[in-house]
Amino acid sequence: MTAGVDMRAPLSLLPLRLDQVVFEVGTRRIIDGVSLRLDPGARIVILGPNGAGKSVLLRLCHGLLAPTAGTIAWNAAEVAGGARRQAMVFQRPVLLRRSALGNVAYALKLAGVPREQRRERAVEALRKVGLEGQGRHSARVLSGGEQQRLALARVWALRPEVLFLDEPTASLDPGATHEIENVISALHAAGTTTVMVTHNLGQARRLGDDILFLHQGRLLERTPADRFFKHPSSSEAATFLEGELPW
Ligand SMILES: Nc1ncnc2c1ncn2[C@@H]1O[C@H](COP(=O)(O)OP(=O)(O)OP(=O)(O)O)[C@@H](O)[C@H]1O
Ligand SMILES: [Mg+2]
Repeated sequence: MTAGVDMRAPLSLLPLRLDQVVFEVGTRRIIDGVSLRLDPGARIVILGPNGAGKSVLLRLCHGLLAPTAGTIAWNAAEVAGGARRQAMVFQRPVLLRRSALGNVAYALKLAGVPREQRRERAVEALRKVGLEGQGRHSARVLSGGEQQRLALARVWALRPEVLFLDEPTASLDPGATHEIENVISALHAAGTTTVMVTHNLGQARRLGDDILFLHQGRLLERTPADRFFKHPSSSEAATFLEGELPW
């Protein structure tokens, strides 16, 4: 039955489908035939050794790189109604030479949010990440952990449908890591689908429903987290979990 459906509501970006995606630089194959489907509400964690291609895979998904072969298809257009619907958080936050508040407000401006709503939403986002006292400080003088929280405040203000995170807590202390994890959980609870790369296995257990294991550019398995940590399907993942480098 279609009666009552609001035809103005933007179509969901998801599912995102990757079909036999390959990324090569010269003769080197960095991503080797990855197929996967990302559904609404998923909480995915990507694990794998250094150089496996995790960051490249996230950048391909986010559209920062184009595949050499294969297809990456969203269910609907990336931008609808002016709103920014997907976002990415990097290990080292990319911030503007503005105040903390200005960084969030500028992201809202780019997303087409009317001027009169920006300040209130930016203040609320800073409060969400515990930076309410630092709104007027230059983003560049914030500590690493505070900068990462600011990057997440920007995401919180935008409430994207999909969020890609590449080692968002790699250089943070346990307290800052915990705070960032809380914000990521809150985003997911508010409806954002998350895909995160991490080397922190505790974090993978806390924030991952499904684990993707990437090895030498190939997706060796996709397994529910509780099963993955007890009985990974691939021998490479078992070796990885034992703390040894897969061959
Ligand atoms: N633009 C590029 N040109 C050439 N080689 C690249 C490019 N981007 C990545 N690579 C190579 O591809 C491989 C995978 O890189 P990637 O950054 O995705 O690894 P990763 O799994 O994220 O590793 P880490 O855990 O160390 O972050 C690496 O060997 C890297 O040197
Ligand atoms: Mg990486």
